[in-house]
Amino acid sequence: MTDLQRAFYDVLVIGAGGAGLRAAIEAAEQGARTAVVCKSLLGKAHTVMAEGGIAAAMGNVYPQDGWKVHFRDTMRGGKMLNHWRMAQLHAQEAPDRVRELEDWGALFDRTPEGLISQRDFGGHRFARLAHVGDRTGLELIRTLQQRTVALGIDVYMECTVTRLLRAHDGRMAGAFGYWRESGQFLALQAPAVVLATGGIGKSYKVTSNSWEYTGDGHSLALQAGASLVNMEFVQFHPTGMVWPPSVRGILVTESVRGDGGILKNSAGNRFMFDYIPDFFRKETAETEEEADRWYTDKTNNRRPPELLPRDEVARAINSEVKAGRGSPHGGVFLDIASRRSAEYVRKRLPSMYHQFKELAEVDITAEPMEVGPTCHYVMGGVEVDPDTESSVVPGLYAAGEVAGGMHGSNRLGGNSLSDLLVFGRRAGAAASAYARETDAAPLREDDLTDATREALAPFAREGGENPYTVQHDLQTCMNDLVGIIRTAAEVQQALDRIEELKIRAKALTVQGQRQYNPGWHLALDLPHMLRVSECIAKAALEREESRGGHTRDDFPGPDPEWAKINVICTADGEGIALKRQPLPVMPDELAAIFEEH
Ligand code: FUM
Repeated sequence: MTDLQRAFYDVLVIGAGGAGLRAAIEAAEQGARTAVVCKSLLGKAHTVMAEGGIAAAMGNVYPQDGWKVHFRDTMRGGKMLNHWRMAQLHAQEAPDRVRELEDWGALFDRTPEGLISQRDFGGHRFARLAHVGDRTGLELIRTLQQRTVALGIDVYMECTVTRLLRAHDGRMAGAFGYWRESGQFLALQAPAVVLATGGIGKSYKVTSNSWEYTGDGHSLALQAGASLVNMEFVQFHPTGMVWPPSVRGILVTESVRGDGGILKNSAGNRFMFDYIPDFFRKETAETEEEADRWYTDKTNNRRPPELLPRDEVARAINSEVKAGRGSPHGGVFLDIASRRSAEYVRKRLPSMYHQFKELAEVDITAEPMEVGPTCHYVMGGVEVDPDTESSVVPGLYAAGEVAGGMHGSNRLGGNSLSDLLVFGRRAGAAASAYARETDAAPLREDDLTDATREALAPFAREGGENPYTVQHDLQTCMNDLVGIIRTAAEVQQALDRIEELKIRAKALTVQGQRQYNPGWHLALDLPHMLRVSECIAKAALEREESRGGHTRDDFPGPDPEWAKINVICTADGEGIALKRQPLPVMPDELAAIFEEH
């Protein structure tokens, strides 16, 4: 093939968000020839949308904080479905990862004593989010990006991987993709491949996710023979913008509530007091006075209900809107103006201030914001070994949002930035160790020919549909039928529609040239979006209970039997196979933490 660029590495990282860059840094520091491939420009990762901070029990604001409390909070937030070992490693290692970022140049906000400042977030017992105003993800990416460049790691920007390549014996051999600008193909050979591709939000109509989040990594892993765990759990962040329509879904950071903002309905009621679930009743304030004391005295007080985990808050907002108590544009009101001075808001929440000013002509220091749930994060992902992030496919690793298990049925805010640092580093270390011990497998020429043919197929067809109409119909289907509240009938309807969309996607036609052709790019992303949507819908139908980010109207409560089960997806020809798998058993010394704290 003449039109094929080739290169060879020890470790190939797909994705340049926090997990990908942290994995690449670790692999390179351990001596591996490392490359990063990213769909966007370096520095434009969706990680920047984790605005509020990095959760790490550093104890800078509340010395009584520690890894055990963070572990407990994370497990409870995930309704105990988290892989205990991932939650343990995450809680234990996050503080070192934050300090390391600071060593590498990240400029965190400070406490009056000069320590890294930590703010409140939902579900966290203590203020533990290390932050840079409300631009923490941006600072994290900026820092990792500088280090990546300083280490001389090769970065393939604006490059999309369409297929993972395996050797005859099933182990990883590399990846095939194309340059978005030129349309030229490339084959990157590497014995170890780390997936760090982020999430799936672009399969939903209303989402905080940016255009890259089309579930590629999840889908590539399935195609390569890996399994996905608990794909039914999709997080709807309670606060996205709802108005004007062009910005619907854009994130309104949880820091607004962490820093004192409250939620009100159209009648002016602070409605979250009506939605405190029994599971969190002990630690949630039941009166406004008690809630307000939280910000000054953590030893005696209980969290305000606005700081319940995200699944609880999103469902409450949904119920208020459904009951006719929503804001004019179908959300609720988030008010920080009446709670904090304008100076405080502008200092702590500069991006939110500008975002609402510029996009909605709302001054959040003077008036409330209109907010509503937006698809933000998928808890489900590639099933990995907690210590090494290796999948069942030899040489294939996954870290960050594309990996599953860490967050159980619901992720606490701030735990994604710490997750991607902790497990990005571990994946990079394990991948480089594997590459040291493993000979690179040759790429199979027939695989390259087949991958090229598949990528060019949309140009070869005539009279087919435009990819944008299929994408639009998929987003509507997932939003309306597999959204915050689900029923068997609706999810089954979604699955029927996905089958139809799969047929339509196979017949798409793309016009024009290979040079920077967004229609072609979307045509190649759509099979990933459909495969992952099928996983979400099938797993959502299978799990007959409500837990975390999965609410079934026809099975309204949690079921103790389902508390012991993970739902596993694997590829099965053109479709998806499901199986139920018992949860790993938590050792007694960790189980005891729930008695102690
Ligand atoms: O609300 C936020 O700032 C988002 C943070 C996160 O998803 O961890």
